[in-house]
Amino acid sequence: MKTNPPQTRDGFGSGLGALAALVGSAVGLGNIWKFPYLTGENGGAAFVLTYLVCVILVGIPVMVAEHAIGRRMRQNAVQAYGGVVPGQKFWSAIGISGLLAAVLIMAFYSDVAGWVFAYVFKSGWAAFGGPALTPDTFGAIAGGTIEPLAWQFGVLALTTTIIVAGVSKGIERVTKILMPLLLGLLLLSALRALTLPGAWAGVEYLFRLDFTKIGPAVLLSALGLAFFKLSLGMGTMTTYGSYLPDKTRIVPNAARVALADTLVSLLAGLAIFPAVFAFGGQPAGGPGLLFNTIPLIFGQMPGGAWFTVLFFVLAAVATVGAMASLFEVPVAWLVEKKKMTRLMAALTTGGTMFALGILATLSPFFFNLFDFTSSNVLLPLGGLAIIIVAGWLMPKGGLADELGKGGAGTRWDSQLVPVFVKFITPVLVLLILLNSLGLVKF
Ligand code: PHE
Repeated sequence: MKTNPPQTRDGFGSGLGALAALVGSAVGLGNIWKFPYLTGENGGAAFVLTYLVCVILVGIPVMVAEHAIGRRMRQNAVQAYGGVVPGQKFWSAIGISGLLAAVLIMAFYSDVAGWVFAYVFKSGWAAFGGPALTPDTFGAIAGGTIEPLAWQFGVLALTTTIIVAGVSKGIERVTKILMPLLLGLLLLSALRALTLPGAWAGVEYLFRLDFTKIGPAVLLSALGLAFFKLSLGMGTMTTYGSYLPDKTRIVPNAARVALADTLVSLLAGLAIFPAVFAFGGQPAGGPGLLFNTIPLIFGQMPGGAWFTVLFFVLAAVATVGAMASLFEVPVAWLVEKKKMTRLMAALTTGGTMFALGILATLSPFFFNLFDFTSSNVLLPLGGLAIIIVAGWLMPKGGLADELGKGGAGTRWDSQLVPVFVKFITPVLVLLILLNSLGLVKF
């Protein structure tokens, strides 16, 4: 008879479940809302290319480092970084900065998530013959007071409930089923958008390169977006890494997560930009881009109103997976270090996020401040520290050992990837950060 080892910490039940949860964390508003709107504001193809380079040279190595440290330590992010370099407890600062980043991100993320949930409701109403979705619909929900706050509160309450249900049960189950569905619907949206008259201009916008558009600010946003989209630099992937089974090969697993995440973003771009050009809109339409374009894409299609509803339902699900992973960073810490019950930890986290969230919802200044400080400052700095810890400071052989676990073909894993982790990734992140401060020019 097979006996199971005593289980003291919750964890992902299976390799596939773990992959689903990681993709569930990575895929979210970053893909369908932020990626298109930043691409639009930063001039298209050149931004996309810079972003892709950042994913490969920075994103995957940082994810690998986080998973390795998380799995090795099997603890929340603060305690994992506090213990990973013997005698250097101060690296727990990475985890602390991650707690701060989680709260700052959720403050504006839950606002946008509230718009998505509002659109589920409003598109449903429209499908039953209510008022059609127009840019005014977006203006009213994004610029209002009580309505967006109510949606934001609802979104945070829902995520708190999911978190209380636990890691494996709550998160894995939902994402495993619905992620493939989202991918399918994005594919359909893209096909529909690409067959609109005038759509080609959108494809060119996404893929025709103009290097003159790349400057320090564009580089920093592309780097920040890579961190944000892959949930890196703040302990989310470390916390999720701590739930990874030992049989998971960290490197190919991270590559798969990055690939899935990139695919979803590119598909979202291929749905949105052709439609924007076909309908004579503005690519630099800002945060409303997604909300104003999707109803147009499906608008003239038979049954289109229902596809719009389905799109926002799936977007809402993707958003919840990402939010659950943002919650998990403070919650794991409050439970393991501060000895709170999971319920109290989730309520404390949700409450703090809502308090800051009110500021983000009511004031564009705070919205942008929280977004910029987290994506473009805390995450890249956190990522730099993480990669230095993993590449240079972990006890000798620790990284290679962790990357070698899980079976065949481990030479690539434990020999080539550490070269990136040690040399290439930290230098790139440092250069982009210094470049954005004007201290290095290229
Ligand atoms: N990656 C998520 C998204 O793209 C956002 C996120 C950032 C989640 C950081 C967790 C941590 O929507």
